Amino acid sequence: MKYSFKNDYSEIGHPDVLDALSSIGSKQYDGYGIDEHCSKAAELIKKKLNAPKAEVHFLPAGTIANLTFISSVLKPHEAVIAPLSGHIAVHETGAIEATGHKICTREGVLGKLTIADIESVLLEHKDEHMVKPRLVYISLPTECGTVYTKEELSDIYDFCRDFDLYLYIDGARLGAAINSPECDIAYNDIARLSDAFFIGGTKNGAIYGEAVVICNDSLKADFRYIMKQRGALHAKGFAIGAQFAELFAKNESKTEPQAACLYDSLAIHSITMAKMIAHGIHSLGYDFLYPVQTNIIIPVLPTTIVERLHKDYLFSEWERFDDMVAIRLVTSWATPMSAVEDFISDITRYK
Ligand SMILES: Cc1ncc(COP(=O)(O)O)c(C=O)c1O
Repeated sequence: MKYSFKNDYSEIGHPDVLDALSSIGSKQYDGYGIDEHCSKAAELIKKKLNAPKAEVHFLPAGTIANLTFISSVLKPHEAVIAPLSGHIAVHETGAIEATGHKICTREGVLGKLTIADIESVLLEHKDEHMVKPRLVYISLPTECGTVYTKEELSDIYDFCRDFDLYLYIDGARLGAAINSPECDIAYNDIARLSDAFFIGGTKNGAIYGEAVVICNDSLKADFRYIMKQRGALHAKGFAIGAQFAELFAKNESKTEPQAACLYDSLAIHSITMAKMIAHGIHSLGYDFLYPVQTNIIIPVLPTTIVERLHKDYLFSEWERFDDMVAIRLVTSWATPMSAVEDFISDITRYK
């Protein structure tokens, strides 16, 4: 069977998360997120964020989290500003547009939106004959695996406040960003420097589920109504709550001593595996399209090598050049060291 470096959601869930779910067993709970597991998980998350006043809601997946939150805050004529590579702009089947809101994209730098990008969208949209940009969407990490610095995030948030824009962060892989050695943004910074964001569970140890965190008081009202209307209010909400309670329980890891909870130790593992792959590829003399900062690696390899790798591994191709191909590799909380070693030794043999 081919080993997959295609994504970080190919494994069902971390064994501790599975144990946590089976331990809630056949007991009965109230539905729709009003239960002890969701309350416990929300408290743990707020503590981690140092944001006691934030509201935490558990939703089943990333696209529904993005469209539910974004459509909940925008008026009919309002629009989103996003990087060209942003997940909502490319990989969500027009879900945001289907809620009636245009996405205005800009190229960005290394997958990151810049203030100049946001400014240029504002300059282009001046009156009621065009949509009114009202929310900035970024993801952390970006689609290219890169991270914003605290200064960049802080500048974007300040700019948003000055120009009456909301800042929303897609954190499908937030753990991989916050635990990246190249990222100086901490959990409390995310809560301080955005209006809302989500913490991805699906890609970091949960079977499924995302935690939407709303920090701006003015955006909290009626969110559960909108969740229900959009199909995002899970009857068995406690199943997501129990997973997040396990991921964010204080759970000092022996193998990752810098990690404070399972969510962090799993993210650190995925980054470590990515860095090992990057180191191996770099030492063979090949380069990368983007700096390797999280669990996404986009090396540029000779087509001949990539064709041979396709026989034993699953991964996606990002861009083709003359006789070279940029491929996208993603490691996960479950990637074994042996898969990384085999992958590097195969590239070495094929060189
Ligand atoms: C950054 C980002 N946001 C959102 C999503 C959407 O998640 P889902 O496919 O579970 O709806 C993904 C999924 O790959 C993602 O990578």
